[in-house]
Amino acid sequence: MRVSSSALLAVASAAAVSGTKVILDNDWSPAGFIPYLLALNAGWDVLGLIGDTANSWALQTSLHGLATLERGNLSSCIPVYRGADYPLLNTPQLFQAWEEVHGVLPWQGAFAPENLTAEAAGSDPTSGDPNRISKAAFTEGYPNTTLASGPAAIWLVEQVNKYPGEIVIYSGGALTNIALAVRMDPTFASKTKGLVIMGGYIDVNLLQVVGSVGEADDNSDINLMIDPEASKIALTADFPNITIVGNAANQVFPTQAYWDEVYQVKNAYTELAYNYYGTIFPFWDETAMFSVLDPANVLNSTQFYLDVDTAASSPNYGNIHAYQEALTPAAQTLQKVNYVFEVDGNKLLEDIKQTLQYPPTCAGL
Ligand SMILES: *[C@@H]1O[C@H](CO)[C@@H](O)[C@H](O)[C@H]1NC(C)=O
Ligand SMILES: *[C@@H]1O[C@H](CO)[C@@H](O)[C@H](O)[C@H]1NC(C)=O
Ligand SMILES: *[C@@H]1O[C@H](CO)[C@@H](O)[C@H](O)[C@H]1NC(C)=O
Ligand SMILES: *[C@@H]1O[C@H](CO)[C@@H](O)[C@H](O)[C@H]1NC(C)=O
Ligand SMILES: *[C@@H]1O[C@H](CO)[C@@H](O)[C@H](O)[C@H]1NC(C)=O
Repeated sequence: MRVSSSALLAVASAAAVSGTKVILDNDWSPAGFIPYLLALNAGWDVLGLIGDTANSWALQTSLHGLATLERGNLSSCIPVYRGADYPLLNTPQLFQAWEEVHGVLPWQGAFAPENLTAEAAGSDPTSGDPNRISKAAFTEGYPNTTLASGPAAIWLVEQVNKYPGEIVIYSGGALTNIALAVRMDPTFASKTKGLVIMGGYIDVNLLQVVGSVGEADDNSDINLMIDPEASKIALTADFPNITIVGNAANQVFPTQAYWDEVYQVKNAYTELAYNYYGTIFPFWDETAMFSVLDPANVLNSTQFYLDVDTAASSPNYGNIHAYQEALTPAAQTLQKVNYVFEVDGNKLLEDIKQTLQYPPTCAGL
């Protein structure tokens, strides 16, 4: 019998990725649970979640992570750690001063001006005190369990030393906690299995001007721009493998017909996705997780050396800059990253539907 070598490779890589450990660091929201469900659905072992400051403050996003786990009865087997409140250097005041000079970002995340009226009406907190919680924003339900104790960055360092070479770090928000772990333990990055991030758009300036403000929003980059220094520390650290999902994260959008189909099966996750995900934004964070779950999920990608602009005087402060090997700067050690161009969009939609309709349980993990 002849078996094609590509079929053999596919079997081998599927076996190699199932059982991979992953920690997901994200700015969680009421319908933001799909990335961890996708990982669980692929047979990955989710060691825990971290809530970071990007779309809102870390406390609020950590509590959203916890609440969404609770809704699916997953909080008893997956802990949630609170990330650092502030970026390494950036503050709402500095960010807003940068905007005065370089223009307002269409999506300002946690550093949008404080608006207590909007919070009372259900918005997540922005600016002001990072310790406050907007309960009205918990459309998924306010958590009844508690966050794990201790800073997220310390937990990251502990886990990677406990399971060297086994943990993929997923970042769907800012890179603050990952940069802190990199600086606390010089062996941290090299002891992971790799890093995958949502963010790192490139060559999108034209897309920021030829369309609506909404299209400019889809091509802005709050995850990296809210903490440029952390982005640079994390993305130039010696992770064995770095995958950047920026432009490709805008490839696949949900439609109402899609959500109608997903909601044919009723459970907590299909209900939350149906009610709160909407059809305005692409599957940003989902595409990033999907990109590393199986090599076959990526249809087209390239590799280049990556830097992050950390000049606070630059309109590109926090954006990435790419180099080919022959032209890399001599005074810096940059990492060669995988940059995703295109994913298998139909499979992404199928995988999301599957994991929402038939979510994992703690007993099954
Ligand atoms: C969670 O557990 C409750 C109580 O056992 C059950 O009613 C509910 O269906 C479970 N939810 C999910 C998503 O499994
Ligand atoms: C604050 O939020 C409210 C409710 O969303 C909105 O009507 C108002 O314009 C906002 N205020 C400012 C200053 O943006
Ligand atoms: C916590 O319990 C309250 C009261 O039963 C419930 O209304 C709420 O939805 C629960 N929170 C979550 C996240 O399930
Ligand atoms: C790095 O990660 C990507 C995405 O998961 C994968 O396709 C690639 O094979 C990995 N490379 C190495 C050397 O492990
Ligand atoms: C991969 O994407 C690049 C950038 O968009 C494009 O130039 C190239 O033609 C694509 N390759 C394939 C095989 O689709």
